[in-house]
Amino acid sequence: MVTGAAGFIGSHLAHALVQAGAVVVGVDRRDPATDPTAAANLAALQRLPGYMHVTADLLNCAIEPLLLDANAVFHLAGIPGVRPSWGPRFSEYVASNVLATHRVMDAVTRMGIPRLVVASSSSVYGPTEGGPSVETDRPQPASPYAVTKLAEEQLCLAHSVQAHCPTSVVALRYFTVYGPRQRPDMFTHRALSAALTGQSLRLYGDGHQRRDFTYIDDAVAATIAAATIPTASGVINVGGGSSASLLEVINIANSLSGREIQVHHENPRSGDVLTTRADPSRAHEVLGWQPQVDLHNGMRAHMQALAAETAAYGRAA
Ligand code: NAD
Ligand code: UGA
Repeated sequence: MVTGAAGFIGSHLAHALVQAGAVVVGVDRRDPATDPTAAANLAALQRLPGYMHVTADLLNCAIEPLLLDANAVFHLAGIPGVRPSWGPRFSEYVASNVLATHRVMDAVTRMGIPRLVVASSSSVYGPTEGGPSVETDRPQPASPYAVTKLAEEQLCLAHSVQAHCPTSVVALRYFTVYGPRQRPDMFTHRALSAALTGQSLRLYGDGHQRRDFTYIDDAVAATIAAATIPTASGVINVGGGSSASLLEVINIANSLSGREIQVHHENPRSGDVLTTRADPSRAHEVLGWQPQVDLHNGMRAHMQALAAETAAYGRAA
C-alpha cells in the first residue's frame, strides 16, 4: 500500500513499484475525478493493471481492509510545505501528519504488516552550522511543519518498539525532492516555470540558502530499498545528491531555457533554514543507496516534463 499516491513522491513510487511487478493499492484523499493535480499525477499509473486506486481520507476511513495481503506499507500521505504551516492550516498538518499516522500505525500493527516506510523530512534537523546532518544529531525543528514531521516519525518508531509489535519502521528523512510532477509550491518547479513562461520568480531572501536537492528517481529507489532490507527500526537520510544554492538553481534554469528569469526579491520566510545537507553514509551502508542524478541533469528532465505538461494542460505556472 502506498498512502499519498496521488501526490508527487507517492505517484512516482507507486509507478515504480508496479513496474517492478508489485501489486499496489494507492490511497489518497484527493480524488482524481475532481482534482486536476491528482488526475495528472495518476494518469499513467491508473492505466497499469497492477494498480488499484482508493480515494479515502486516512483520518476516518477503514484502513485495515486496504491492508489485506499487503507486505509493506509506504506512508507518504501528509501535508507538506514549511512556510504555510505557520498559518491557519496548522490543524490540517497535525491531523494528517500526526493523527492520521497514528491510525495508520494502529492498523498496520493489527494486520501484522512486517514493514512500514514513512516519509520524514530534512526539516526535522532545523538550523545547522552548514555541515552535514547525521541521523543521530539532536533534531531542532524550526517550523510547525517540521515539528509535525518529527512527531510523525517518532510516533511510528514508538509504535514499532512496543512489545510484540510485528512492524519494523524505516523513517526516511527526504531532502528537498525535485523532478517531474514536483509540487508547484516548491522552488525548483517555480524557477523552471518562470524560465519557461517568462513570469517573474519570487525569491525569499538573498538566494544564498542551500538545499541538498534529491532527484525523484533517487528518492524512489531509496524508498523501495527501505521496504526490503533486513533492518531494525530507525531513521535514514535520503539526500546528498546535489548541494546547491537557490542562485545556482536559477542559473541552471537560465542556461537550460536560454532565458533570463526575472527575479523579484522578497523577505526571507519564517521557518526556512539557511542550509540543509545530508550525511548519506547510513543510506549507503543500510540501503546500499547512492544518488545517481546530478542537479543539472535532474533539472533538465524536470524542465522537459514541465514543458510537455504546459503544452498539454497549460498548468505550469
Ligand atoms: P504531496 O502533497 O504531493 O503528496 C501528499 C499526498 O498526501 C497528497 O496527494 C494528499 O492529498 C495526501 N494526503 C494528505 N493528507 C491525507 C489524508 N489525511 N488522507 C489521505 N491522503 C492524504 O507531497 P509530496 O511532496 O509528494 O510529499 C510526500 C511526503 O513526503 C509528505 O509526507 C512530505 O511531508 C514528505 N516530504 C516531502 C519532501 C519533498 O521534497 N517533496 C521532502 C521531505 C519530506
Ligand atoms: C521542501 C518541501 O517543501 C518540504 O515538504 C520538505 O519537508 C522539505 O523540502 C525537506 O527537505 O524536508 P523546502 O526546502 O522549503 O521544503 O523546499 P522549497 O519549498 O523548494 O523551498 C526551497 C527554498 O526556496 C526555501 O528557502 C524557500 O524560501 C525558497 N523559495 C521557495 C523561494 O525563494 N521562492 C519560492 O517561490 C518558493
